[in-house]
Amino acid sequence: MLLPLLFSLAYSRKADGAYGEQHGCLPMETKLPYKWPFALDILKRQYDVLPSQRLLAFQSRYFDRIGPNMKVMLFGQVGYMTTDPKNIESILSTHFEDWGLGSRRGGLFPLLGEGIFTQDGRPWKHSRELLRRQFVRIQYQNPKVFDQHINELINGLSASGDGVVDLQPYLFRFTLATTTDLIFGEPVGRLGDDLQDTFSDNFDYASSISAIRLRLADFHWLYKPRKFKDACAVVKTYASHFVSQALETEKRHGPDSNGGHAFILDLYKDLNNPALVRDQLVNVLIAGRDTTACLMSWTIYLLVRHPAALERLRRDIAAVVPETDDLTRAHIAKLSYLKCVLNETLRLYPQLPVNIRVATKTTLLPSGGGPSGTSPVLIRRGTGVGYSVYHMHRMTSLYGSDAHEFNPERWENTGLEKKVGWGFMPFHGGPRICLGKDFALMEASYGIIKILQTFPNLRLPPGIQKEATGQERQNLTIVVASADGCKVLLR
Ligand code: HEM
Ligand SMILES: *[C@@H]1O[C@H](CO)[C@@H](O)[C@H](O)[C@H]1NC(C)=O
Ligand SMILES: *[C@@H]1O[C@H](CO)[C@@H](O)[C@H](O)[C@H]1NC(C)=O
Repeated sequence: MLLPLLFSLAYSRKADGAYGEQHGCLPMETKLPYKWPFALDILKRQYDVLPSQRLLAFQSRYFDRIGPNMKVMLFGQVGYMTTDPKNIESILSTHFEDWGLGSRRGGLFPLLGEGIFTQDGRPWKHSRELLRRQFVRIQYQNPKVFDQHINELINGLSASGDGVVDLQPYLFRFTLATTTDLIFGEPVGRLGDDLQDTFSDNFDYASSISAIRLRLADFHWLYKPRKFKDACAVVKTYASHFVSQALETEKRHGPDSNGGHAFILDLYKDLNNPALVRDQLVNVLIAGRDTTACLMSWTIYLLVRHPAALERLRRDIAAVVPETDDLTRAHIAKLSYLKCVLNETLRLYPQLPVNIRVATKTTLLPSGGGPSGTSPVLIRRGTGVGYSVYHMHRMTSLYGSDAHEFNPERWENTGLEKKVGWGFMPFHGGPRICLGKDFALMEASYGIIKILQTFPNLRLPPGIQKEATGQERQNLTIVVASADGCKVLLR
């Protein structure tokens, strides 16, 4: 019984070895050191820094000390961590077919079900094509679609009094409205304030538990509290409500003339199943909502700490956008300094900071092996590789000695994006590149311009400590947010 199994194992190791030799692979010599059996001390130290809310800064020290590639032993299994642009390009693009999401599917399944974010291979390709059509359709939409929501945001801020205001929760409410409007055909807020809060509280809670499950990787099944199951059920009930409403409206009145429910109806035409439509919608919601809110929050967080950049951006906006005019795509396209500011924020706080892929067949990483750390490394099927865009974006070898500083000017006609190539990828690259990139940048630009126009005195409140970028407290879930919010004075 065992013999054929042993034989096939021996055979596959031999085949792996041949593959490695053929490609000149050498073992990776840089390792994450550990002292305890199963490397449990590494887990313990990460666990110990959690309360300080500076986990990414803590991990930076490993990369600074060991280098961009390291071998990690955990529970007796080999894994790797990388911030090396060559390796990340290989995983996401040149060897895309050799990698899968690994335990992410199981970790996210209770909330997301069958959707683009939990799928690999052929089902993913299908979802990708289906959703890509939606993003092509909205690509040139008038940014006026954000008007109602930005007005609500500004009215909320205007009513908030003269003291210190934390913008972050307002921005999360804003992107909840814009994203649900995009996918459901109406903002979830149309249900009324109480129901909107129920939806967003359950969605936030379910997302935060999902983030913990992601970190548990193969052990995600250990953590499925009752409250989590309930929260996932609430999110699904709401999403289902919008799906059935759209289907009923179409049945009664025919396809709606203004195309408000196009997202749902087009998905339904293909999937033929309301539950599958619902799941795809929740997948887009989790991809688009917190990420864009965090981008906006970090941008303003950084601007109020760098008054010269804020001043320059204000002058640009005043020169390009007459205050009485509607804000258009053409205006936004002309605001080149805003693009530098957004790129610089995406560099320092890529909203999906760390990620993982697992090899689905024998493959290689092109860099990190041998004594010089530049040879390819053989990767056996089933091996996990963690990659950190967050740490890559702070490498001095890519961005120079001021890599840790906020300096939007570094993007200004310097050819930086050409020079760093795969060293800058807040939206990833390759076949799984973010589908919502254009939508997110338009939404963030629109919101930031309107906020700066409405509040010309927006600034950092006196007495707030200015920590070095990356040393502040962070709330690390699936996304990275500021744990102290984005506190400002508006007037
Ligand atoms: C600043 C905002 C955003 C950032 C930084 C961002 C970043 C990313 C990244 C890095 C991925 C790849 C994840 C992976 O493969 O593991 C991704 C995927 C995706 N994003 Fe975004 N995103 C943003 C906003 C949005 C928005 C607003 C939407 C939709 C409204 C969206 C929709 C998606 C979808 C559907 C995917 C899955 C693509 C696939 O797996 O094929 N994103 N995003
Ligand atoms: C911002 O980064 C993108 C790459 O994602 C690049 O194409 C663009 O030119 C950059 N913008 C500026 C102003 O540097
Ligand atoms: C951190 O994020 C979680 C999940 O979104 C949220 O429940 C919690 O309130 C946040 N904590 C802080 C300090 O912002």
